[in-house]
Formats: sequence, structure tokens, C-alpha cells
Amino acid sequence: MVVQLLKLLKLLKLKMKPINQILSKQTFSKEEIIQLLSAKGSDEALLFAKARQIKEQYVGNAVYLRGLVEYSNRCKKNCLYCGIRAGNADVGRYTVNDDEVVAAAKYAYEKGFGSMVLQSGECSDERFVNDIELLLKQIMQATNNELGITLSLGEQREETYLRWREAGAKRYLLRIEASDADLYAKIHPEGHSYEERLKCLKILQKLDFQLGTGVMIGLPFQTLENLADDLLFIKNMDIDMVGMGPYIEHENTPLYVYKNQLLSKKERFDLSMKMVAVLRILMKDINIAATTAMQALHPQGRQKAIEIGANVVMPNLTPMRYRDDYLLYEDKPGIQKDSGDLLTELEAEIQAAGAFIAYNQHGDSQHFRARTN
Ligand code: 5AD
Ligand code: SF4
Repeated sequence: MVVQLLKLLKLLKLKMKPINQILSKQTFSKEEIIQLLSAKGSDEALLFAKARQIKEQYVGNAVYLRGLVEYSNRCKKNCLYCGIRAGNADVGRYTVNDDEVVAAAKYAYEKGFGSMVLQSGECSDERFVNDIELLLKQIMQATNNELGITLSLGEQREETYLRWREAGAKRYLLRIEASDADLYAKIHPEGHSYEERLKCLKILQKLDFQLGTGVMIGLPFQTLENLADDLLFIKNMDIDMVGMGPYIEHENTPLYVYKNQLLSKKERFDLSMKMVAVLRILMKDINIAATTAMQALHPQGRQKAIEIGANVVMPNLTPMRYRDDYLLYEDKPGIQKDSGDLLTELEAEIQAAGAFIAYNQHGDSQHFRARTN
């Protein structure tokens, strides 16, 4: 009784509401989101329980697989956080050859993944644009026009997006990284334009792609207010799919100098969990990925994310010999594991999360279907 009274007095002093009262609402204000992201102990447990219930009610317990091919680590950009930035001369640059990509696509198709993601650093020369267009056609042909293809190839011209859309890609992932323009400027060098990124997201939506975005959590200079704004940005943009995870430092990047000012890895993981949970409550019918970065900070990271809101996993199908060169951040998991081992492990993890793999399905975002109907 005394404890409860003290808690109430504390909430009143900080002008905060009891967590239950916030969670019973249909949507949240920025202040309420900040309070949810600060939840600890029993409050955090209530947040997770609510997110889990919403997930089960709206998207169920199916988890969709997207086979991920990290197609090329060549990149013309220099994002201050990323291990494969153009300025990192320690990286051996590669592009996976077409036969290998098609073999990975076939593997995904035959294993019943339903879809794949082609990701790479950012290139926009005519040769790259052509290569992707041809690859898309080859993949479609090799998989009976049935495999769903998502691209994650950065900022491009409208005409390029359109060509790739017509060649078979139906979804596009382009993380906003940080929805606050000032924070965006602090984690990117000059010439990396926030407005341009926003413009690309709008073009992709106009071209009828299922649109994915996301942010990094626990960046230097980032506040809880920034993160609350990120979630509201995702909601206001009517995004269909989200991949977000903790920021993890990489030694050969400019942001590494801030490594002692970051939240601990445990705090970054916990905050990422709360971001996933709040997002699931805010956007009930979207697809949310359990990201590799979450797994990097916690051995059961993916499983935990699925328990409280995520419904997509992207097993890495990049041929083994390239994996050491696609290190966006330190301690990236799954470098040594081949696809077969990964799948067995994943099945167990997903089952432990009370979910199941939905094989042979595209796993389109329900939000996209509702939005475009
Ligand atoms: N920590 C976490 N995520 C990162 N990414 C790039 N560098 C890092 C890092 N150091 C993410 C970005 C990018 C995606 C491909 O990987 O969000 O969009
Ligand atoms: Fe290139 Fe993407 Fe890394 Fe930026 S985050 S440097 S665009 S690969």
C-alpha cells in the first residue's frame, strides 16, 4: 500500500500517468511514448504483455522468412556509423556473382521461404542498375515467378526504382536511420541529404512498393525524444514494414570515438525491445523484423523480439566466402554458420517464442493490403 502510494506520488511529481492507463489507449502522445520507452520492471513487463497480445490478435503467431543476400559491399557513401563505408580501406570489396545469387534464390524458394531480400551498399551507376534489373528477371524465372523480392539498395532515381519494380521487386527497404534531421546530420557526412532520403521514401510509396524503413537505437547524441519521434514518423509515413535495431559501434568508423558515451549494450538491447513493443501497439498490422543487430547484442535477441512483436526473420543466405566482408558493425553473428544450420536453429528459436514459420508464403504486410485496397 505504502509502496503504491509512493509510486503514485512520484508519477504525479513527474507528471506521468500509470502505465496501465497509457496502455489502455488506442494511440499514444509523444510524452506517453517516452514514458513507455523508460519503463522498467513490472511496467516494462506490462508493456511487453500488451504488445504480445496485440501481435497475436492482429498478425497472429506466424513468422515469415526472407532469405537475405548481401549482394555487394561496394558503396559510394560514407555514413559515419557503418563498417563498409567507402572510406574504410580495410574492407575487401566484393559483388556476389549472378549464378550465386540465383542459387541462393532457388534455395530460398525450395526451402519454402516465400521471399528474399537483396541488399547492398549504395551504387547508382548505369551498370549496377542494369545488373540488378537482369538479376531480378533471372530470379523470377528461376523461381516460377513466385518468390517475393525485396530490395534494399539505397537511394536511387525514380526511373531506377520503376525499372526494378517492373522487373519483379515488390518491396523496398530504406531506413531513415534517424528521423530527426539534426541527428541525421550528426551521423552522416556532408552531402548525405536527409531531404533526399525522405524524397526517396515518398517516391517508393508512390510507385506502389511495399515500403520498409527503420532506425538505429542507441546512437550517439540520440535522446528518448528522438526515438519517440522516430516511432511517430513511421506511423505518420504509413510504413508497411520496419527493421530497426541497436546501433553497434565499429572500430573503423568515425562514430567510434563516442564509444564510451553510449548506453551499455544491455541498455541498447532493452531499449530496442521497448521500441519494437511500442511500435507493435502503434501499428498493429505491419511487418516488423527481428533484426540481426538485436541478435548481436543478446544470444536470444531474435527470439525475444518475436515474443513481443516481431513477425519477420531474415536468415542470411550470402555465400560464406563473402560474409567476413559485410561487417556493418562489430560482433555481427552468423558469419560462420551455413544456411542449413541457421535454419535448424531458427526453427527452434521461433518455436520457443511460441510462434511458427509460415512456409511458402510471401508474408505481405497486412498494412499494405489494407492501405492499397
Ligand atoms: N550498427 C547498427 N546498424 C547499422 N547499420 C549500419 N551500420 C550499423 C551499425 N554500426 C544498419 C543501417 C543500414 C543497415 C543496412 O544496417 O541502419 O540501413
Ligand atoms: Fe553505404 Fe549503407 Fe553503409 Fe551508408 S549504411 S555506408 S549507404 S552500406
